[in-house]
Amino acid sequence: MEKLVISGGRALNGKIMLQGSKNSALPILAATLAVGGTSVIHNCPVLTDITAALKILEHTGCKIKREGHTVIVDSSAASRYDIPECMMREMRSSIIFLGALISRFGCAGVTPPGGCEIGLRPIDLHLSSLRRMGVDISENGGVLECRAPCGISPCHIALAFPSVGATENIMLASLRVKGETVITNAAREPEIKDLADFLKKCGARISGAGQSVIRINGVERMHSSVHSVIPDRIVASTYMACAACTGGKIAIDGICREHLLPVITVFEGAGCRIGIKNNELIINAPEKLSRIKSLRTMPYPGFPTDSQAIVTAMLATAHGTSVITEKIFENRFRHVPELIKMGADIRVEDGSVAVIEGVERLRGARVSACDLRGGSALAVAALGAEGKSVIENIHHIDRGCEAIEESFSLLGADIKRIKN
Ligand code: UD1
Repeated sequence: MEKLVISGGRALNGKIMLQGSKNSALPILAATLAVGGTSVIHNCPVLTDITAALKILEHTGCKIKREGHTVIVDSSAASRYDIPECMMREMRSSIIFLGALISRFGCAGVTPPGGCEIGLRPIDLHLSSLRRMGVDISENGGVLECRAPCGISPCHIALAFPSVGATENIMLASLRVKGETVITNAAREPEIKDLADFLKKCGARISGAGQSVIRINGVERMHSSVHSVIPDRIVASTYMACAACTGGKIAIDGICREHLLPVITVFEGAGCRIGIKNNELIINAPEKLSRIKSLRTMPYPGFPTDSQAIVTAMLATAHGTSVITEKIFENRFRHVPELIKMGADIRVEDGSVAVIEGVERLRGARVSACDLRGGSALAVAALGAEGKSVIENIHHIDRGCEAIEESFSLLGADIKRIKN
């Protein structure tokens, strides 16, 4: 088991290049199976979740080449439409292969997905949408057997909640459906638009991605394409929080300003000065952060749930009382008990509201990552804390942050990965 050892209290300074988005790369990799041919995906982050997605593609019969941040997927010979439970369990995003398999083969056999334990994370919206499209889904020994014996029908799907994954699955499943599929209350996250941009390059007819109403007009043929994944807005917010926590000044290269607007407002509210020129963001932190009176996580373009843990860690040493309400997942404050071990004064009410009384400083402690973003939040807290912290279970962090110790070292942090 690897650990991170961080000696905190140094102001971070310097410049860093932002990685590609995990949440964009994963559905795009699933989409390479749907479109066929040989797709070239650039700016694909080197992460364990990406490795898990590539294993699924290989299992279906795809040939994979990985050269640094470029992944080449040749899906011409793909023939398997079942995904074993051990692969499905690796991550939540494995469920996006369901839409891709249905699009390519008209059938699929999958088990419910794994991923971070941040709530129930049901897939009812995915399944009810596919059923509405004419897919027969039955459960057999824990396997969801999906078939569209009469083909898939175009229809209007009104999502009860703008689920990112359900929106992606419907988009993928409807690529070749004759007629127009309409999704209302679709998720508007930038990763949805990135998936649509890739699919459009491959010949798909999709309009409205990034807005609440998405229209997919099925095409008979699709072809492979070359695409570069968008920058990771959540990892950008993690670097921003590192600067904010340590009173530092850093430049993040390769950002997309529009994607970061919901988090920029919050960092500015806490007293950070932020400047953006072209694709570079410079964040300059004050000596002491101000509280954020009230912050709620919301679907995009609201404040992202994935940045909540990081901001909770940052506000632990802000001046005054901050309140954060988690509106997307039921169980997303599991980092709080760990932050409390570091001296934070946070109480969680009804499982969904964190009341953060800013303390003078955090102190180093032995803590454990319990999920991806919660783990990153502990690293952020440790960088700002006085003394040494040891973070265990960092495989969670490795699912989404590329070589976190190298990035933070570049910014002047005292951080080491140790094995034992
Ligand atoms: C994606 C992101 C994840 C992010 C989340 C919300 C990827 C790989 N992951 O996850 O990092 O935190 O969006 O921005 O892109 N829900 C249901 N039934 C469903 C589907 C979802 O009740 O069938 C609920 C979920 O339990 C959750 C909420 O809807 O409470 C949001 O989930 P969703 O948008 O689907 O998130 P994911 O696609 O799983």
